[in-house]
Amino acid sequence: MKITVIGGGHVGEVTAQRIAEKELAKEVVLLDIIDGMPQGKSLDLYESAPVEGFDAKMTGTNDYADTANSDIIVITAGLARKPGMSRDDLLQKNVEIVGGCTEQVVKYSPNSIIIVVSNPLDTMCYVALKKSGFPRERVIGMAGILDTARFRSFIAMELEVSVRDIQAMVLGGHGGTMVPLPRYATIAGIPLPQLMSNEKIEELVERTRNGGAEIVKLLKTGSAYYAPSAAAVEMTEAIVKDSNRVLPCSAWLTGEFGLNDLYMGVPVKLGKGGIKEIIEVELNDAERAGLEKSAKHVLENSAMVNL
Ligand code: LAC
Repeated sequence: MKITVIGGGHVGEVTAQRIAEKELAKEVVLLDIIDGMPQGKSLDLYESAPVEGFDAKMTGTNDYADTANSDIIVITAGLARKPGMSRDDLLQKNVEIVGGCTEQVVKYSPNSIIIVVSNPLDTMCYVALKKSGFPRERVIGMAGILDTARFRSFIAMELEVSVRDIQAMVLGGHGGTMVPLPRYATIAGIPLPQLMSNEKIEELVERTRNGGAEIVKLLKTGSAYYAPSAAAVEMTEAIVKDSNRVLPCSAWLTGEFGLNDLYMGVPVKLGKGGIKEIIEVELNDAERAGLEKSAKHVLENSAMVNL
């Protein structure tokens, strides 16, 4: 396995670190346009290997030729949010950045699987799909795992139980219209509504919707990276190990959930080759309405992109 991370900012560097420490690849390439930065970070990371005890060749580069024959490409490049900005405010600039990166990487790794992390996420996936010409199985967006992880964390904090026993599902676009599904959240198999009042659940759902903004507001100089990188690496690991994990990811929909021609967060079966299946979930009227509202927002956003 050779895995390339495009973009050496916080999300990219921690993604490279997690991939290396988990030994998911023989070679991890970190690429950024800033001269010396990815080289320095990769060397520093490699120098942690004797202590941490992992074997992986680390390559830092500004040259796409060094990414040749990667199996998986994680695209984190692009501007991040500043306080007060929505993910959508990043659109035009990041279309250029993600579009450019995609063109370059697919030239050198035509058989790779692309995991998109840049925002606004669902629209950036669309850009990567169009620019790569890859089938939808091989262009997948990271968002649902992050949003779900936030929901799971908030449930764990509230109930004072281990996060490990909490399962949840957040569907929809990665933004204010995302659709957390409390009905499908469980604590060791116990449905969430049995252990928490509706008011409290609604409060946590709202906090989840604003989870990214909450971090941006605290950090002031950028956006979240520990949880986003963990989520991107969970997807990477599922693909590398062909583990058929069922994870919420942004996928190109062609009729699933009654939705067409857009990227949105849905449960997928992830393994070798990327998305093996999109799993449809029964939704009640309110959940369906939420998903349709989210789809409308994503479609409006993607319509602003000329490809
Ligand atoms: C977040 C950004 C990465 O949700 O979208 O933190």
